[in-house]
Amino acid sequence: MQTEQQDFWPAEEDTHRQQRKPHRWRALLIPCLLTLGCSAVQAQSVQVLHWWKSLSEQQAVNLLTTKLAQDNLQWRDGLVPSGSGVGASIVLKSRILAGNAPEAAQLNGVLVSEWAELGLLLDIDNVAQTGKWEKSLFPKVWNLIQVKNHVVAAPLGIHRINTLFYNKKIFSKLDLKPPASWEEFDQVVRKLQQAGITPLAQSSEVWQVATLFETVLLSVSSPGFYHDVFVRKQPSAMMDARFAQALKRLRILKKAMPNPVADKLWMDLSRQLAEGQAAMLIMGDWAKGELNALGLPTDTGFSCVAVPGTAAYHIYDVDTLVMLARDGSKRSAQEKLAQWVVSPALQQEYNQVKGSIPVLKNPDLTKMDSCARNAWKVFSGDAAAQVPSFAHRMATDEISRDAMMNEIHRFFMDDQMSVEEAQKRMATMVRALPKNKAGNDAQDINR
Ligand code: BGC
Repeated sequence: MQTEQQDFWPAEEDTHRQQRKPHRWRALLIPCLLTLGCSAVQAQSVQVLHWWKSLSEQQAVNLLTTKLAQDNLQWRDGLVPSGSGVGASIVLKSRILAGNAPEAAQLNGVLVSEWAELGLLLDIDNVAQTGKWEKSLFPKVWNLIQVKNHVVAAPLGIHRINTLFYNKKIFSKLDLKPPASWEEFDQVVRKLQQAGITPLAQSSEVWQVATLFETVLLSVSSPGFYHDVFVRKQPSAMMDARFAQALKRLRILKKAMPNPVADKLWMDLSRQLAEGQAAMLIMGDWAKGELNALGLPTDTGFSCVAVPGTAAYHIYDVDTLVMLARDGSKRSAQEKLAQWVVSPALQQEYNQVKGSIPVLKNPDLTKMDSCARNAWKVFSGDAAAQVPSFAHRMATDEISRDAMMNEIHRFFMDDQMSVEEAQKRMATMVRALPKNKAGNDAQDINR
């Protein structure tokens, strides 16, 4: 495993940092004294723990920081670099246990309700009411951020997982069309291989394999079956022929990847696609933000389509910020942050940079590129098209997610393991897992 760089410092160390850099304070203080405004010193601040480390993620953070600063709110950065937030959750847990919780944190999906039920999150009911969130947010997002009739998270954007990116230069040079079915995909792979080009970029990181697998499973089945597997966790679903088909497809896809599949960060895969070292990438659309940040405009250097067989669906991953309930002294700053992230002006700019779509029902579609418009069209259509991402915490509790992801990963890494054996292992394992509770997104369990 690649070691994750720890770039994060606990709250009390903020002071040490500032002490080590007295010039920063002088720079703030002098204009303040001259104008007698002193707004920089009086600014409220919120420390935000998050895992956004890539180029585009950092651009999104910078945008938030700048906008908030204009409103006299200082974003104190608590970065814990870790793709999909694996390390960030661990750091957050240990900080809470040590009585040193940050004031806000990026926390997504089912984890939000797990933490709210433990009484760890501040409600932001007033902000939601004043901002009329119930009316302006997508109903799916509105449901996701409420626990026991309290609003406990501020939503930032909606990512689409089932996205296939392709390098336009390679595709036009070889006269290839983006594949709409797995048969077409296999033909494209053959032509790319004949031309000596790696067809599909992929990492062996556990969450990245799971991200690919959930899309593959949906592509060979239906949202109902996807729910049986990832939300209801039915042992019989693991023994179903459609589950076997998804595993077989995963094996076929592996032949289109570099051999061996190395443990790479997702941003490195985006770079591989940008530089033409691989022709395709299946990834959440944060990769679009990254490709844009690398200097490739959408539909010029690269483009995206839905993964074969999933055009009618949107596997969603909603990014949310929660406010940690401390002694209440930071409430007004925390509420200001929550209010900001949902404001239409910020929503549009932020999501453009991040690669996601706004959480608002009526965004300005003219400001979106073709990938975002497609994602928006599918997500805003029939609610049955909205499928919760398993790998990105929208479908089931953390323990089940980790256990199931590890089994999928084991199968992916071990070419000797038969499909039947993997199915049996999964079925046996899910029997021992907790059942999802209603009241979070796993309420989809009742569909
Ligand atoms: C998050 C995205 C993030 C991606 C890669 C996902 O789980 O929702 O915001 O860009 O992980 O780290």
